[in-house]
Amino acid sequence: MGGKLIVFEGVEGCGKTSQIQLCQEWLESSGISVLVTREPGGTHLGLDLRRLLLSKAEDKPVAEVTELLLYAADRAQHVEQELKPNLAVGKYILCDRYTDSTIAYQGYGRGLNIDLINQLNYIATGGLESDLTIWLDVNVEVGLSRKRGSEAELDRIEQETIAFHRRVQQGYAQLAASNPSRIVQVDGSFSKQAIQQIIQEILQVHLQVEKVNF
Ligand code: TMP
Repeated sequence: MGGKLIVFEGVEGCGKTSQIQLCQEWLESSGISVLVTREPGGTHLGLDLRRLLLSKAEDKPVAEVTELLLYAADRAQHVEQELKPNLAVGKYILCDRYTDSTIAYQGYGRGLNIDLINQLNYIATGGLESDLTIWLDVNVEVGLSRKRGSEAELDRIEQETIAFHRRVQQGYAQLAASNPSRIVQVDGSFSKQAIQQIIQEILQVHLQVEKVNF
């Protein structure tokens, strides 16, 4: 029995974490076996890579291509160690970021070559695509102000310029326009509960998840 790979994407502060948690509770309450994971950092190796990628950069700058390759390395390990085996035993995987993040951040944000990123994504995933990607679409300023208002210090990528984050947002818009059957845009400006309701309806339609009251 094959599982499903459901990915959550969006700019900083778009609300992925809360929606993934609510989605997990909903799916598990209907008896579906769920794995929640993320990129970067879904494996032991990936946690080390995440630290390297996101720690603040002042005295240790990370070159753009190095950054790209580290995200790809994290993904290759994650696909082999977590995604493929769990899909093979029928799990529903809720994954916080996947290949579209690299296109949006390293492609649109940094300006690296998109064809090259597509090739690298293919090498890292062996062609494993999401069954469905939920793009939580929030205004960049709103997302960043949520981050700035939280206790945690901004990480290396969150600290990028507003222009960078706007390019990332444009990247997601382009990706959603070119992949309408795989990527579903969800307006992230509603309340948590309202957004969750929309996501559940999308999952019911796209993945035939049985209707369960939330
Ligand atoms: P998050 O897990 O808290 O969303 O943080 C991950 C950060 O890494 C976020 O700023 C987006 C960034 N990122 C990339 O730049 N490229 C990638 O391929 C991935 C997976 C994440």
